Amino acid sequence: MSDDPHSIVILTGAGISAESGIDTFRDAGGLWERHRVEDVATPEGFARDPDLVLGFYDMRRAALANVEPNAAHHALGRLEREFPGELLLVTQNVDNLHERGGASNVVHMHGELGTALCASCGKRSTIEAPLSDRPPCPACEARSLRPDVVWFGEMPYQMERIYEALGRADLFVSIGTSGAVYPAAGFVQEAKAAGARTLELNLEPSEGSHWFDESRNGPAGTLVPGWVEEVLAR
Ligand code: OAD
Repeated sequence: MSDDPHSIVILTGAGISAESGIDTFRDAGGLWERHRVEDVATPEGFARDPDLVLGFYDMRRAALANVEPNAAHHALGRLEREFPGELLLVTQNVDNLHERGGASNVVHMHGELGTALCASCGKRSTIEAPLSDRPPCPACEARSLRPDVVWFGEMPYQMERIYEALGRADLFVSIGTSGAVYPAAGFVQEAKAAGARTLELNLEPSEGSHWFDESRNGPAGTLVPGWVEEVLAR
């Protein structure tokens, strides 16, 4: 364990974007209270009713135009610019608020609302039109674009890179995530096994709180800038 971290892995979840006005999944009034996971976040749901699924992600993508990054996103952008060691920012979020908050090296392990994935040729592209209008894939012209979002039953992106970083980390920090969804929920144990100190910053204790060396509870917009200040002051 080191008090002066050289290699940090940060995992963020929906809670970091809550103060920007994006609904979380499992809090009261969250997305999974209003939509069934099986309908909008599985390959089977997409096969059953593509219009419903495309419409759901079009709506979430359009909503990004009305939100702004908050103090927590900005603080992580600052950390990326000023931390002299190694830093990997992994997010489960499909929004673009980390990038808009100044972070440029973000692993979107559950995909991104800003890109579409072609089910025919496998290429990713940035598409302005709603996917429910069935725009053609810019690479192969097939009208088979789907959201570039990892659904339940699919493999999250860039896992090898993430596990490598966890194996080298001396500090793992989890921000605004309930710890309900694997493999992300298991990163704390992975990092701990590799010798990292582990810190949770969450509104309330998460399902996996007991795995962390330290857990601080409160809104990300307050906790994250405070923690970044501490790290950069060392
Ligand atoms: P959840 O909705 O499961 O959890 C959000 C967490 O953020 C909860 O623990 C809240 O207490 C906390 N929280 C809420 N407001 C906060 C605030 N202002 N500051 C700090 N924490 C706050 O969201 P995730 O953990 O991100 O996956 O969910 C993980 C995955 O489950 C998502 O990526 C998504 C979902 O199903 C897929 O769609 C594949």
